[in-house]
Amino acid sequence: MNIGLIGSGGREHAICQKLHSSSLCKKIFCFPGNAGTEKLATNIDLNVLNFKKFLRFIKLHCIDFIVVGPEEPLVKGLVDFLEKNNIRVFGPNKFAAKLEGSKAFMKKICKENKIPTAKFKICKNKSQVLKFIKKNHPPLVVKADGLAAGKGVSICKTNNEVLKISEEIFKGKFKSSKKLVLEEFLSGEEASFFLLVDKNTFKYFGTAQDHKRVGEKDKGPNTGGMGAYSPAPIINKSVKRKIINKIVKPTLKALKKKNKHYKGFLYVGLMIKDNEPYLIEYNVRMGDPECQVILPRLKSDLVKILYQATNNKLNNINLKWKKNKSMTVVLCTKGYPGKYQKNKIIKNFHKLKTGRNDFIYHAGTKLENNELLSQGGRVLNFSSTGKNFLNIRKNILKLLRKLNWKHGFYRKDIGWRVIKKNAYNKR
Ligand code: AMP
Ligand code: GLY
Repeated sequence: MNIGLIGSGGREHAICQKLHSSSLCKKIFCFPGNAGTEKLATNIDLNVLNFKKFLRFIKLHCIDFIVVGPEEPLVKGLVDFLEKNNIRVFGPNKFAAKLEGSKAFMKKICKENKIPTAKFKICKNKSQVLKFIKKNHPPLVVKADGLAAGKGVSICKTNNEVLKISEEIFKGKFKSSKKLVLEEFLSGEEASFFLLVDKNTFKYFGTAQDHKRVGEKDKGPNTGGMGAYSPAPIINKSVKRKIINKIVKPTLKALKKKNKHYKGFLYVGLMIKDNEPYLIEYNVRMGDPECQVILPRLKSDLVKILYQATNNKLNNINLKWKKNKSMTVVLCTKGYPGKYQKNKIIKNFHKLKTGRNDFIYHAGTKLENNELLSQGGRVLNFSSTGKNFLNIRKNILKLLRKLNWKHGFYRKDIGWRVIKKNAYNKR
């Protein structure tokens, strides 16, 4: 089968590797891919948001099946367009993708279906904001309604901050929407829960915990994710049951009722407090870097799984997982998530010797004259699996020290929660 994979991050390199390892896979095209996918696939520099051009390419190269990595093409309706043109594609339609594309849409679904989430108000003007802050006290969370490249959420310690940020959003700071969601701040422990969904069923696709802040001890500004581990022990059996019954099932049922069923990966972003899950956000894709810790634990054939999902036959699939735990540490360019330089040579990369359980997933990289160059803020993901988190992390950090990339930095405390908690890990 010829497969087209959209995206250029560590997530897509991890997906690409799994697709490539399947006996069902003949050839992969990545749109646009990175230096990692280039080793496994043909990277194509084509703007997939130009739907017609993309369709022509798919037809010309006899691509059988499209897998979408990031949210933007989904939110913009690529799946609807391709399906109308009889192209098989794994990902949700435009309506269902609003679960991520519009925070107001997601919150309305929560309210209509009594899904546990932070108390909120959808605001279109200042007087609505004033009404909410009169009744609720800071900290409060202001969220731009539409896609905002990870910059749309502000946790405000004062009402003045709430008013300032709201004003900016109303004035059009984010092109995707001038609405906002104002909500109460939830305390607890964050974790991510993943599912594969088709018209008839859904399958549990693992749990993970991401580290969003740039600095150690979870300090500093938010990033796309500095590292992750899987599984997330905070999601125990009873929490898992609650997530499925109180959050996932009502959401999927609500979409079905509107005759817009969900198909694709579903990322459930949660706050867990006192063994109770609260929905913070939905993402209509795999997480990055969560994907880089989930996929190394998957035993089953990913091509078969995704293909069956597009046939609405996930019911026939029995997912198999390795017992091992998994972690990833993201190597970033100095300056990230602020300004950083590009095209820095990653000199020692070719000298690294990785073990059987190690995976280095590329993100912002490109190959030029046989040299590996940095292209983004998040550059490489060092992933590894093993029996305990402390040893996995030690192994990853050893590789990162060997690489010794002078333009980069990384967090050395990924997994601090589980490593601190698990006594056996301390030995
Ligand atoms: P979102 O884009 O909705 O996931 O928000 C980004 C991050 O902001 C989340 O991963 C949380 O760390 C934080 N966040 C969002 N909403 C809340 C909330 N209601 N309470 C506490 N933290 C939140
Ligand atoms: N790691 C967070 C995300 O993928 O949205």
